[in-house]
Amino acid sequence: MASQSIVAEAREHLAAWRKLPFPLEIMPAKIWADLIAENHENIIQTLSPEALVERVTSDNITTGPAFVDEPRFKGIISGQLEWLKGFGRPLSSFPAYVQDSELASPRVITTEDGRRVSAAFLYHLGTVATLGAFVGKFETVLELGSGYGGMARLLKLVHPGVHITMCDLPETLYLCYIYLRRHFPNCTFAAMTERGTVPTADFVFVPAPLASSLAGSAFDVAVNTCSLSEMTQSACDYYLRIIENDIKVDYFHHLNRIGSPEPLLANACATSFGLDRHWDVLDFKWHDPGNYFNAYFPNYGYLLNLMLRRIPDKIRSPELYAGMTSRARSLLGAASPGSDEWHAAMLDIIRIERRSADIEAYLKVIRPLGWRETPYYESLLNGTKPTKQSAPASRGL
Ligand SMILES: C[S@@+](CC[C@H](N)C(=O)[O-])C[C@H]1O[C@@H](n2cnc3c(N)ncnc32)[C@H](O)[C@@H]1O
Repeated sequence: MASQSIVAEAREHLAAWRKLPFPLEIMPAKIWADLIAENHENIIQTLSPEALVERVTSDNITTGPAFVDEPRFKGIISGQLEWLKGFGRPLSSFPAYVQDSELASPRVITTEDGRRVSAAFLYHLGTVATLGAFVGKFETVLELGSGYGGMARLLKLVHPGVHITMCDLPETLYLCYIYLRRHFPNCTFAAMTERGTVPTADFVFVPAPLASSLAGSAFDVAVNTCSLSEMTQSACDYYLRIIENDIKVDYFHHLNRIGSPEPLLANACATSFGLDRHWDVLDFKWHDPGNYFNAYFPNYGYLLNLMLRRIPDKIRSPELYAGMTSRARSLLGAASPGSDEWHAAMLDIIRIERRSADIEAYLKVIRPLGWRETPYYESLLNGTKPTKQSAPASRGL
């Protein structure tokens, strides 16, 4: 498809998305309202698909870049390649065409194993490798907060049969639509512009104001990387309700911020990990080197990396949950307070049983650290709703 038609098509979708009433509950947090005003508006007005790909890969539009001429660059790339190797999916295990785009900015590209790679490319490949390892075969993926589409592009290259539905703010979805349309001229694309049933296509675009139309759909996997924790509490709860109650989903990959609040995130949520009891935690990675986000951003606070499996309705029973918590309690007994193992067990026990004594024990550890989650756990005790992250504390994770 010619570049001009891609832009014209995307602009038409954006115009329709912007006419939709935007539910107050999911209005972007300050950080995203500001980013859209600063970046997206200008990109939408001016850039061709090729220039757009160059821009989103070389600026912190949705996924921060690492530049070849930065001193940290080599260390980041080798850390990420090591991560893939340690995970059992070295770069060489992917087909040769799995490499960064020819249109990606040369400022972020190096060559490894004869292919173009960037830090963002390897980060997105980490998600693809994770889904492959824990889910195995899958056909339908919901990506909430898909950014410019870097992960979706790699998912499609590695799993050509996959159908990916992306839900994001209209302006980000515009970038994502153009990015993917430019890279996959032979794939089918569908953009929802009004309420109704979610269509079927290789790539489906659901603007945030139509997120509730996802209700009734089924996906093998839901993915959220670095998005829920950048939303307000009401938006985060809204999307978690969709994932947990309104759609059928078998797995959920949830990689998001936890711990010390960040001034940058202003009115963002107290927690994106307020999950219900019907998840089995297949993988909990945090401070250990198994966390692929921190291979990309080694100087950044550690993000919690969860792979969850939805417990099917038909096997849910009091005995099943009792078994889960008794195992978590024995792990808790053996863990030192504040360690990753202790947090993993505590989060499970509170999520499943919601007992005041456990919540108080958890607050005793996180309150002195000034964690952003403090208002959330306090709200569980006093039955109120948390609003936003705590004020930044002086101590870190
Ligand atoms: C930091 S980016 C992460 C992008 C991508 N998942 C990644 O890891 O590279 C956060 C994403 O969340 C989206 N987002 C922020 N607030 C949102 C909201 N209220 N509803 C839907 N998406 C939102 C942004 O547009 C952006 O795509």
